[in-house]
Amino acid sequence: MCGIVGILGRHQVAPIILEALRRLEYRGYDSAGIATVNESRLDRRRALGKLVNLSDLLVHDPLPGKAGIGHTRWATHGAPTVANAHPHRAGRVAVVHNGIIENFRTLRAELAQVGLAHESDTDTETIALLTRYYMDQGMAPQQAAFATLDRLEGAFALAFLFQGEDDLMIGARQGSPLAVGHGEGEMYLGSDALALAPLTDRITYLEEGDRVVITRAGAQITDAQGRRANRPLTRVALDQAMVDKAGHRHFMAKEIAEQPAVLGAALGFHTSPEKTALALPEGLNFTSTDRLVLVACGTGHYAAQVAKYWFESLAGLPVETDIASEFRYRQPVLGARMSAVFISQSGETADTLAALRHVQGAVAQTVGVVNVPTSSIAREADIALPILAGPEISVASTKAFTAQLMVLLLMALKAGQDRGHLDAGAVAGHLATLQRLPGLMRAALDREGEIADLAQGLGGVNHALFLGRGPMFPLAAEAALKLKELSYIHAEGYASGELKHGPIALIDEMMPVVVLAPRDALFAKTVSNMQEVLARQGRVVLVSDRAGLAEAGPVPESLVMPQVPDLLAPFVYAVPAQLLAYHAALVRGTDVDQPRNLAKSVTVE
Ligand code: M6R
Repeated sequence: MCGIVGILGRHQVAPIILEALRRLEYRGYDSAGIATVNESRLDRRRALGKLVNLSDLLVHDPLPGKAGIGHTRWATHGAPTVANAHPHRAGRVAVVHNGIIENFRTLRAELAQVGLAHESDTDTETIALLTRYYMDQGMAPQQAAFATLDRLEGAFALAFLFQGEDDLMIGARQGSPLAVGHGEGEMYLGSDALALAPLTDRITYLEEGDRVVITRAGAQITDAQGRRANRPLTRVALDQAMVDKAGHRHFMAKEIAEQPAVLGAALGFHTSPEKTALALPEGLNFTSTDRLVLVACGTGHYAAQVAKYWFESLAGLPVETDIASEFRYRQPVLGARMSAVFISQSGETADTLAALRHVQGAVAQTVGVVNVPTSSIAREADIALPILAGPEISVASTKAFTAQLMVLLLMALKAGQDRGHLDAGAVAGHLATLQRLPGLMRAALDREGEIADLAQGLGGVNHALFLGRGPMFPLAAEAALKLKELSYIHAEGYASGELKHGPIALIDEMMPVVVLAPRDALFAKTVSNMQEVLARQGRVVLVSDRAGLAEAGPVPESLVMPQVPDLLAPFVYAVPAQLLAYHAALVRGTDVDQPRNLAKSVTVE
């Protein structure tokens, strides 16, 4: 989604805002803009496309001023154009916005009636025009901004800046995150602490409905009821090394490579010092849970689908998985013996957050499996389980996926223990197996050269299929998602056994079919399905271990994976899925870290 930043500084702010926007660019890159107040002038620069275009523009046409707001956009209302780029300005006010104003058409009509016409197609310009209207009526800036906020319906994080007000910035949060940063004689606003990382580690997170009036002397927060609110000031430890590429060509490459360390750390954090027992939060208990629902979007949803196999086999617990945007609108049957788990890297995905809110109070417990510990889902769920993947900057999720798998697997073990399906010895046995994971992930990463060679063959195709059985089926879907979003190749993941029920009609000599098949109990069946593809001249790529490849017989292309225990296969086979998509993107020359049309954190429905 869009990223916003605001600074009341001691120095020229445009270059500093630009730097902060760089750290928010993963949220959207359709256009970017900055507005500043300089003495009595309110001025702005906006550019289409990536931030580099705004940066170039500022070189030729600098923007002076020590107070400013900036924005990087993921288009919702109105095409990516300069006219639709933020900041939006009307008279003496400029506004940047992340979210959607649902009643903007009504407000727009009202404003047209009083002669205030829009220049853009955006909902955000309505906010600026309404504030201008109130200021024209004689209201002071703060009063006008608050009167505007009273009229807005929908989801937003907003920052307002006013002509002639070099020491005033107003922020508001409703449905989209916003953080206040405290500096030395400076104050900041940002979509997340990451944006403000080099400026300050002292952060106050606004809560739902909060409004904040910022001057260089500090911040005054009022809550949704208009009462003065004291929100805690937290120290956020964000190591700069965690948010740069550390010598890799792309963030995605770095994040894929980090997986052995990330998984080792997550396992260590959630287990006892000897790593023989679970150390999950006290409150997490499945003793009185009869039914579990796992809800997420995108990659998190595929992690949920893998975990369903684990909760069922290790804990005998019936599991439903659902896409958050569907779950909340389908009147799901909830109950006091149901637990609900919400999986989200960002912890801010609007659909997942809304689904969490939908079940609050109607289920036994809500659990947030999140990467960002200060996120809305982490704060609003009864129990927050951190996946501890560290900042994930690439829009395509990689290390967060396997870290989500790790936490979900540990939860499944806990459910097994709570429900009497596993004793302490069995849990210790599974944890011992998990200890092998970092080494096996490294062995899979060592296959990068062969995977890059396989990706060459994907450079010219328009479609691809991924097949898998059991937990490899959702992994096939995740592999297809990765390939789609990175290389724009149309790809689908299918259950191997389902192919013959329709999709096999797609098979011809042009169709690559990647079969993810460790040599497990279902292997022979998967091989039969693969033979059906081979018989129709499909271009099979078999990804398996040595034993599997030997048993399968000749195939046009293959990739040798390390031999893995069944429990670890979804983690280890995620590596070739990710690397295949990464290298296909390199072959096709697409933008790896910021694929077209996407944004990292989707905070609108
Ligand atoms: O932050 P979340 O995990 O809630 O995000 C959910 C999806 O938007 C995300 O997984 C998306 O599908 C990724 N781009 C996949 O790589």
